[in-house]
Amino acid sequence: MYETINSPINYGGLELKNRIIFAPTTFGLAEDEYFEKIRKIAAGGCAMVIIGDVPVGKSQFEKSLFDKKGFAHYQKLVEIVHSYDCRICAQLHQTDSNMLAMLKYVPGVLTKKISMEELRPLLNAEVAPYISKLSARKIHKIINGFGEAAVLAVKAGFDMVQVHGDRMCGSFSSTVFNHRTDEYGGSAENRARFAVEAVKAIRSRLPEIPIDYKLAVRQEDPHYGNAGVLESELGIFVPLLTDAGVTSFHVTLANHSSLEDTIPPANHPYFKEQGCFLKFCDEVRQYTDKPITGVGGLNQPDFVEQQLASGRITCAAMSRQLLADPEWPNKVASGQIKEIHRCVRCNKKCLGGLQQHQGTHCIYEKV
Ligand SMILES: Cc1cc2nc3c(=O)[nH]c(=O)nc-3n(C[C@H](O)[C@H](O)[C@H](O)COP(=O)(O)O)c2cc1C
Repeated sequence: MYETINSPINYGGLELKNRIIFAPTTFGLAEDEYFEKIRKIAAGGCAMVIIGDVPVGKSQFEKSLFDKKGFAHYQKLVEIVHSYDCRICAQLHQTDSNMLAMLKYVPGVLTKKISMEELRPLLNAEVAPYISKLSARKIHKIINGFGEAAVLAVKAGFDMVQVHGDRMCGSFSSTVFNHRTDEYGGSAENRARFAVEAVKAIRSRLPEIPIDYKLAVRQEDPHYGNAGVLESELGIFVPLLTDAGVTSFHVTLANHSSLEDTIPPANHPYFKEQGCFLKFCDEVRQYTDKPITGVGGLNQPDFVEQQLASGRITCAAMSRQLLADPEWPNKVASGQIKEIHRCVRCNKKCLGGLQQHQGTHCIYEKV
């Protein structure tokens, strides 16, 4: 019945057993609870799990491949996911938050004078000066970090890496944040240079590894997303990224507006429909024949099957639906459609949980 969903695919050089991918998702949970969540998602039958926000250097805030403890953490994740015949991909990212500038907000946050909602625009305001003034030496160090992180990811057992095209790659791509006058700013080609060099840093070290690129697209009419690539500039960015070594694209809306835009609830004023970002996949398709993953409110088996079967997308990524029911792929494969706990996109305990520092959960979870 759901032939395409359940059919294997060569995804940029990596064999996937079906077309369902767990989208990169930050959990903010204690390690054991996190491992258990990822175990359930891998056991639920998806073909690949993307581990969100793996830093490309040492980090005080996130588990890093660059230290012993962090490396062991990722090895454990790989072991868990592989034991279910599921592939695992590391989403390599560099934050574009200026940590030094952030320090001045810490007292306000601790005394609750600044709420998390108020903090976000304050931090966003720091991005443009940070990106525009970053020294060439620092830029080259971070770019190298992408290559080194990918090597470590492969050593830890990851099957694939994804370059996070939001965050620093996305800020460099965008005229909203990038006001540089050197070879990393100005023209679209120059603004693509940071991301292109990050991809090349991986490709030069690992000639065979599949490299996915999370392509964050900025929409101007109406305006959504500030970082990332303007729809009208996709024709420049996509071929440059492909030439640099990208083997597949994971396409979504760009960030740095509100998180509710990139993770839209069912009552979102503009992106409330399932498949809300697939129109960006159509645009990217004009410039590449590489596999494309769509994401954004995908959860109805019939709808997902249609998008895959028509060739509009190669794979379907899901975050909230697999949080609501990790068994979605197994249930679709065995025809138990009525048994699926359908994600209602309320955002209460997933995004809401993360924002309230309670970790990513779901309203369906029994506590
Ligand atoms: C709690 C939560 C955490 C997320 N963390 C990340 C992340 O670390 N990196 C990332 O690129 N996207 C992240 N996302 C975005 C998802 O990958 C996905 O693009 C978005 O949720 C839309 O897909 P969905 O409708 O299937 O949930 C997160 C989403 C949620 C709900």
